[in-house]
Amino acid sequence: MNINTNYDNLEQSYLFSTIAKRVSEYTQKNPDKKVIRLGIGDVTLPLCKAVTDALHKAVDEMGIQSTFRGYGPEQGYDFLRTAVQGYYKSHNVNLELDEIFISDGAKSDLGNILDLFGANNKVLVPDPVYPVYVDTNIMAGREVSYIDANQENEFLPGVNDIGKDIKADIIYICSPNNPTGAVYNKTQLKEWVEYALANKAIILFDSAYECFISDDSLPRSIYEIEGAKNCAIEFCSLSKTAGFTGTRCGYTIVPKNLGKLNKMWVRRQTTKFNGVPYIVQRGAEAVFTEEGQKEIKINIDYYKENAKVISDTLKECNIWHTGGKHSPYIWLRCPNDMKSWEFFDYLLEKIQVVGTPGAGFGKNGENYFRLTSFGSKENTLEAMSRFKTLFGKKQ
Ligand code: MLT
Repeated sequence: MNINTNYDNLEQSYLFSTIAKRVSEYTQKNPDKKVIRLGIGDVTLPLCKAVTDALHKAVDEMGIQSTFRGYGPEQGYDFLRTAVQGYYKSHNVNLELDEIFISDGAKSDLGNILDLFGANNKVLVPDPVYPVYVDTNIMAGREVSYIDANQENEFLPGVNDIGKDIKADIIYICSPNNPTGAVYNKTQLKEWVEYALANKAIILFDSAYECFISDDSLPRSIYEIEGAKNCAIEFCSLSKTAGFTGTRCGYTIVPKNLGKLNKMWVRRQTTKFNGVPYIVQRGAEAVFTEEGQKEIKINIDYYKENAKVISDTLKECNIWHTGGKHSPYIWLRCPNDMKSWEFFDYLLEKIQVVGTPGAGFGKNGENYFRLTSFGSKENTLEAMSRFKTLFGKKQ
């Protein structure tokens, strides 16, 4: 047998695993120190009541002969697909039910979708970038090119930033962006759609953070842009929207306008996936009810308030930063020109605050650092008070 030697081209460990390992080493050596984690974008608030009620009810159904369910449809139950369809409709996007695929989260499907594309496709990703887009393509042996996202283009690279010699067949866009928190407006996104249509490329659009958009003029879905159904697949998740990081549920949209891709995805999913558990899908359905939407908004507002606390503190400390407005992520320039990993160690050592080194997201992330607003309010306040002690007067 031969192993897949493409794995040799990956970083030795996944970014967030590396961070977890470093933090665990630190806590073992310093058991008395209280470490505050504002690194990985993992939620801390519990599931809302509408969701837990629905989960309980579904568990009971599974224990009764007449309502028990075995294998479900691989693409998801119609009750949840209909709820997702209604959610899109509320943002003026019309989808057919069989364009909606229920998943166990955006990360899995962002990797799985690559089964549909030939090995020789050229991939274009922004730098800095969520490492999953890059790693999954490296695993498949695809060539990855980068487009620079930086302070000059406000971390929103446009088609004019694509290098002259770069050909892009598969283009990744994440908006609101992980890690920078930047959001494309409709005009900017339209340029990408036009570029993809003109070049017969596909856009893989990650909208996992759409619920953080607080300006109605900003697009939550790429399908708000005319023509996007002819060139884009969209990935969304309830992880950040409704606290499903541990519960696992998301949805992927593969429009039928994309020719064979919709049928190929059905073929792929029916072969390799047995669907998301019935119980979880009932919980997810509850997110889209009136009650569910009200309850999750309270949680999203809580995280936005944390983002404001972080942003206000950085301002006070005179630390350049962006994001945190339509996004749970705050992207900051490391003080005193520190390198990202140097700053990571410095914060851990001095004030026991964990963030994510920007360099872990690509070369343009060097000297930057990401903080998340998904911590508890108390921990966020505590972390920011420690920041003020360290950087407040000196800057
Ligand atoms: C992150 O911190 O970037 C996210 O939690 C990663 C993810 O959603 O998989």
